[in-house]
Amino acid sequence: MSEARSDALVFFGATGDLAYKKIFPALQAMIKRGHLDVPVIGVAKSGWSVEQLRARAKDSVEQHGGLDPSAFAKLSSLLRYIGGDYSDAATFQSIRQELGAAQHPAHYLAIPPTLFETVIEQLASAHCTQGARVIVEKPFGRDLASARELNAILLRSFDEAHIFRIDHYLGKRPVHNMVFFRFVNAFLESFWNRKFVKSVQITMAENFGVQGRGAFYEQTGTIRDVIQNHLFQVLANLAMESPARTDSESMRDEKVKVLKSIPPLDANDVVRGQFRGYRNEPGVAPSSQVETFAALRLEIDSWRWAGVPFYIRAGKCLPVTCTEVVVRLRRAPKIFPQCTGVANHVRFRISPEMTIAIGATVMDPDDRMIGEQTELLASRRPGPEEMDAYEHVLGDAMAGDSTLFAREDYVEEAWRIVDPIIKKGTPVLEYAPGTWGPTEAEQRISPSGGWQNPMVGPC
Ligand code: BG6
Repeated sequence: MSEARSDALVFFGATGDLAYKKIFPALQAMIKRGHLDVPVIGVAKSGWSVEQLRARAKDSVEQHGGLDPSAFAKLSSLLRYIGGDYSDAATFQSIRQELGAAQHPAHYLAIPPTLFETVIEQLASAHCTQGARVIVEKPFGRDLASARELNAILLRSFDEAHIFRIDHYLGKRPVHNMVFFRFVNAFLESFWNRKFVKSVQITMAENFGVQGRGAFYEQTGTIRDVIQNHLFQVLANLAMESPARTDSESMRDEKVKVLKSIPPLDANDVVRGQFRGYRNEPGVAPSSQVETFAALRLEIDSWRWAGVPFYIRAGKCLPVTCTEVVVRLRRAPKIFPQCTGVANHVRFRISPEMTIAIGATVMDPDDRMIGEQTELLASRRPGPEEMDAYEHVLGDAMAGDSTLFAREDYVEEAWRIVDPIIKKGTPVLEYAPGTWGPTEAEQRISPSGGWQNPMVGPC
C-alpha cells in the first residue's frame, strides 16, 4: 500500500463516453458504500457548466445501474467542473485552485493516451503532482516502444508506487477469485501443471459490434483492445506461482514472471478476423485491416507449464457474450473398454455469471460402463450489492492499493509478446456476424479437441 487515501479526485475526460458508462455509476456506488467523500473535479475540453455535468452524471447513473437519490445528491454536491484546453496552463491553474488544501489528489486520466504527456507536464508545472497519484486508462500505449515512452513520461512526475494503470478486468470478482481459488484449495495444485494439463483455452466472446466506437477501434483492434491487457491478466492468474506474501509487489512479481516466460509471438501463432459489415461502421476506413477477432497460441516456458499450449481468442459479433476459460486435462488410461469418457476439465466462467466447474465422467444411468459427462459446479450471478469492476479499481487506486493494477514491467512484457504480430500485419479474414470467427481459427489455431464454445442461456 502506498500511504494516505486520496483527498480529491481530478477526473480528466469527464464529459466522455467512459465517464458516462462506467465512472459516474462507480462514483455513486462508492458514495453509497461510504468509500468516497472528497471533491470530484471533472475536467474536460467541452465548454460545459457544472450544472450540465451534474445532468450528465444523473443521466449516466439512470442509464447504468439506477439512480440512488441520496448517494446521487452527495455526488452532485462533491462534483466540480473545470473546462479548458489541456494545453492551456490556465486550465491547470484552475485545477490547482480548486484543489485547495488537498495533499494527495488522484488525477484520473480517462482520455486518449496521446494527451497524457501534455496533461502530465501541465499538472507538474501547476504544482499538482506533489503527493499525488495518477490513474491511467488503457490502452497503455500501442506497442512496446510507445508503452516505454508513456512510462517514461509518467515516471518523470510520479514514482511507480503512485501510478495506477487500470485494467478493469482485474476489478472483476471472478478474475480475482481465480487466484484465491487456486491458492486456498490444495487439491488443484496436484494436477495444475504440465504433467496433467493438456491445453488451456480462454475465450472472450461479445455478441455485439463496435457500438459507435469505430474510430477508437481503428486505432486498436482486438489484440490491443482486450488480449494484451484483459486476457493476459486472466492468463497470468491461471499460470502464476503462489506469491510469497499477498502484498501488491509479491503478487505482481509472480504475474510478471509468467509473462517473462512467454516467447514473443510469431505470425504462425495468430489468426485475425474482421466481421462483415465492420467497414461500414462510422469512423472505420473502407479498406480497414483492423481485426475484430483474433485467435492466438502461446507457450509458457516455465517449469510448471513448458509444452502446454495456451490458446486465446476474442472477438466482436460472435454468437454469445461470455468470457470463459477451459483447462483440459490429459485422459485417464482406458480401463473400461466401452467407456467413451472424455478427459476431465476445469472451467472458469468470468461473465456473464461466475462459474467454476470440474468436468468429470460418471457411470451412465443404464450401468453399461460407457460413461456420461457431468460437471461439479459452483456458480453464482453477481448479487445486487456486489462491487462493479470500476468501483473496485477506482476505490483501490484512491486507497493507494496497487495490487489490481498493471506494473510498468508487466505492461512492457505484455507488449513484448504481441509486438511482432501487431507489427507484421498478418491477413485479416472476413467472418459472418454471429459466427465463431474465421474458419481458419478452428483449423490453424485450436486446441486438440477443438475450441469449446461457451453455452449461454437460461439454465
Ligand atoms: C473494454 C474494451 O476494455 O472491455 C471493449 O475496450 C470491451 O471493447 C470491454 O467490450 C469488455 O468489458 P466488460 O467488462 O464489458 O466485459
